[in-house]
Amino acid sequence: MSKKIMVTGALGQIGSELVGALREIYGEENVLSTDLKEATEIADNYYEKLDVTDSDKIAELVDKHQIDVVYHLAAMLSATAEKYPKKGWDLNMDSLLTFLELAKEKKIKQLYWPSSIAIFGPDTPKNNTEQNALAIPTTVYGISKRAGEFWCNYYHEKFGVDVRSIRYPGLISWKTRPGGGTTDYAVDIYYQALEERKYECFLSENTALPMMYMDDAIRATIELMHADADKLTVRTSYNLHALSFTPKEIAEDIQKHIPDFEISYKPDFRQQIADSWPGSIDDSVAQKDWNWKPKFDLSAMTVAMLNNLKEKLGK
Ligand code: NAD
Ligand code: SER
Repeated sequence: MSKKIMVTGALGQIGSELVGALREIYGEENVLSTDLKEATEIADNYYEKLDVTDSDKIAELVDKHQIDVVYHLAAMLSATAEKYPKKGWDLNMDSLLTFLELAKEKKIKQLYWPSSIAIFGPDTPKNNTEQNALAIPTTVYGISKRAGEFWCNYYHEKFGVDVRSIRYPGLISWKTRPGGGTTDYAVDIYYQALEERKYECFLSENTALPMMYMDDAIRATIELMHADADKLTVRTSYNLHALSFTPKEIAEDIQKHIPDFEISYKPDFRQQIADSWPGSIDDSVAQKDWNWKPKFDLSAMTVAMLNNLKEKLGK
């Protein structure tokens, strides 16, 4: 299993957990962490500053560190990309194509690139949305992820590139705060419940969205990358399911532990984004192809979030 791995966007919500999980498997010296910050700002012995819009620097680092596998996480998420559409598109698309080209040239052997439930749109069936359901996204982020899926499939079909992808639902975690997504409320709510005993939600009370606890997402990512290539029937991106809940339901679950917690609702521009996404996902293809199964339900996630955050925040 001697592989050299590079993770982009490694200081973000997912990267900050994925790097640790990969280092446990492959060893610290085999997992290069990269992001926009200077190396001097980071307590990490194997880190390089990398702006993924700089394709020369990417090629230089791949060569310098003899990288075989890339987990390309750096991107602009849904809420921020609605504010900076062209910047979001350029970042999300150009960097993916740089890595796909490197894989085509056999400079890297395997590529992981995350897609999102945001590839679906308002015309998509809302419940148990199937793998190949109609997907006409209406957000910049969704358009970039859907186009990225097609590019991944194209490079796989045409050039044999081993690129793998998951359509993550909203991810919930306690180690690193999320960075500009529509599902961020489901992380913020736990912080506010512990710190303020109240939370004003930017989505309305009955907005159901697909969600997943970070431990499940990290495990899914590594399981997909370790799966037998012959078993994989999807090279756009796999649907993945774990949880589906509304702001009202997560608040009620928190109230089981913090009875005086109160939630209020003040929907903003993110409501329209959420309304264009599915409420729940059918992941039967991922189950069949690589035995995907989530471990955390809503109550297990709430216990994990509150316990970990209590320790982190000293509450
Ligand atoms: P995040 O916003 O928390 O982290 C992104 C990281 O990328 C940040 O550390 C940022 O500094 C870095 N970055 C931004 N621009 C960069 C650039 N030009 N060059 C290099 N690094 C840059 O995001 P995340 O939640 O960790 O998401 C990672 C990936 O997973 C993204 O592709 C995102 O679309 C996808 N995804 C995330 C979720 C979720 O709920 N978190 C859901 C679906 C898909
Ligand atoms: N959590 C992500 C977002 O809200 C979904 O891709 O942008």
